[in-house]
Amino acid sequence: MCGIVAYKGKKDCYPILLSGLKKLEYRGYDSAGVASIINNKINITKRAGKVKELENAINSKKSSQNCGGLGIAHTRWATHGEPNQKNAHPHLDQSKKISLVHNGIIENYDPIKKFLKSKKITFKSDTDTEVLVQLIGYFYNKGKLDFEQSVRAALQRVDGAYGIVVLNVDFPEMMIAARRGSPLVLGIKEGEFFIGSDISPIVSYTQQIIYLNDSEMAVINKNNYQIKSVEKDVALPKKVEKIDYKIDDFDKGKFKHFMHKEIHEQVTTIGNTLKARSTKNSVLLHGLSEYWEEIQSADKIYITACGTSWHAGLIGKNLIERFAKVPVHVEYASEFRYNHSIIDNKTVVIAISQSGETADTLAAIAKANDYGAITIGICNVPGSSVSRETKCGVHTRCGHEIGVASTKAFTAQITVLYFFALKLADSKKTMTKSVMKKYLDLSMWPKYMDDIKSVLKKEKSIKKIAEKYQNASDFLYLGRGLNFPVALEGALKLKEISYIHAEGYPAAEMKHGPIALVDKNMPNVFIVPKDKTYDKIISNIEEIKSRKGKIIIVTDSRDKILRDLADDLILVPKTTHYMFVILATIVLQLFSYFIAVAKGCDVDQPRNLAKSVTVE
Ligand code: AGP
Ligand code: GLU
Repeated sequence: MCGIVAYKGKKDCYPILLSGLKKLEYRGYDSAGVASIINNKINITKRAGKVKELENAINSKKSSQNCGGLGIAHTRWATHGEPNQKNAHPHLDQSKKISLVHNGIIENYDPIKKFLKSKKITFKSDTDTEVLVQLIGYFYNKGKLDFEQSVRAALQRVDGAYGIVVLNVDFPEMMIAARRGSPLVLGIKEGEFFIGSDISPIVSYTQQIIYLNDSEMAVINKNNYQIKSVEKDVALPKKVEKIDYKIDDFDKGKFKHFMHKEIHEQVTTIGNTLKARSTKNSVLLHGLSEYWEEIQSADKIYITACGTSWHAGLIGKNLIERFAKVPVHVEYASEFRYNHSIIDNKTVVIAISQSGETADTLAAIAKANDYGAITIGICNVPGSSVSRETKCGVHTRCGHEIGVASTKAFTAQITVLYFFALKLADSKKTMTKSVMKKYLDLSMWPKYMDDIKSVLKKEKSIKKIAEKYQNASDFLYLGRGLNFPVALEGALKLKEISYIHAEGYPAAEMKHGPIALVDKNMPNVFIVPKDKTYDKIISNIEEIKSRKGKIIIVTDSRDKILRDLADDLILVPKTTHYMFVILATIVLQLFSYFIAVAKGCDVDQPRNLAKSVTVE
């Protein structure tokens, strides 16, 4: 959620901070601010709204011409206190010497605030964050602790999650960053240091990165840095990693929105995954090799995730149970972390996450690790917390996903799960060699790519259909089997970016309640592959049709009956079960995208949403 960028070096910090904040905009936010040290004073500029407004405010101040080489900046996603200028970060302590930006939530802010008020400290904002900077200031101004010790003392007294960067006017060459539950990355270059809540504001300056772990702090002073523990003043040995990200990932290219670009990238991202993960007779998932013996002999699998990644988990369950005959339970990470699942060292727990930083998913992994389960991460961000905290894993490697609505990461997750299910089936001998050969027929990969291209080429007609329904207030999405999660995902995409209410249901379940909603104004999107439930789903369509609901069909069937039933029909190429899921998903992604554009919505940064949800 929200974003942090900080810089220490010889250059003017403001352009670096502002361009960093723009790169972080995709994460979702409501206000922004920067602080630097100028003439022995902390200089803060903040604005509610977009980074552009902050930039205008900075440009209108003469002092912005020379702001020195040390600064911190933030995009806030309000948790405590309205999203206004007063509550925007950075915040100051009472002495105005110390300034801080914070991602996360200080859960015990109330008793600390009462304590500080009793010490005559007055508060300027309604945030939990101000409590933390005032507490650091309280310790520092008592005079017994130095800057670093004051930060450590305050952090040891707070509950909840934080990623912070702190400045102090008395130490104009120093910057302290720390994390617990909220990601922070340190970028290192000759004489320059960058801190980001992810790599996006850093990657164009350096590829030398240190990922901070929970309860670690980075103390940057002059030209040096040290990684230490928040608990004790001990230096920790840390590896500098070289990241391999393309700057192109952060550029919209010829597209107006990142979401549209990322939908189109799926030809390449799925193509790359298919090629990278398979040879003629086998599946390549090297990240699981060390634990494969335990994985293949596990007696059950849990898949845990949130949102779109949870939908991928439902598809994974279907594929794993179908191919490898192992029971799979799929649970929302926010439920898994508190429920009574039966987990032991014969249980595999697969955590799926695009960002690798979702707080509930991380808590679910921690629980599974505590119970001795074999934890597997399926994650798009190498070096992220999910990658580091699971015992083994597979990276989806589809490049940075910027649009808040997940698209290419979802189809990459499904593709990885497809291969995982096949590999498990192979090891457990639940699939004959000849069937396996069919599923691993590499000569099909180019056809799959062509099928995706042909769906993308249909976008003009999908746009027309989308525009026709842009004023609907509610939608139902209906599918069966593998395509029930596709219906859920189609409905979620529409809700997220167009703010139209939509629900996904198993097509037959619709008669047990949702059918009451159907009238002549209600569009119903049916996902209809020509599989074993084809005739059944046609009956479900008839049921809606007879109640005058509008029928939109996504199908690979050329049957006349569907054309007769449909108000609108989107035909995808004839293909396999797995590929149909991908093609139908892409159709639904485009459908919601064009509705959102027609309604004038902010597609890449929908209201109230954040790209990675780092709070519980
Ligand atoms: C996807 O469009 C959503 N923005 C959201 O549901 C997302 O999938 C969820 O928050 C999980 O995120 P993760 O995959 O990064 O863990
Ligand atoms: N909890 C803090 C606030 O509401 C930080 C929110 C964020 O992570 O942006 O100000």
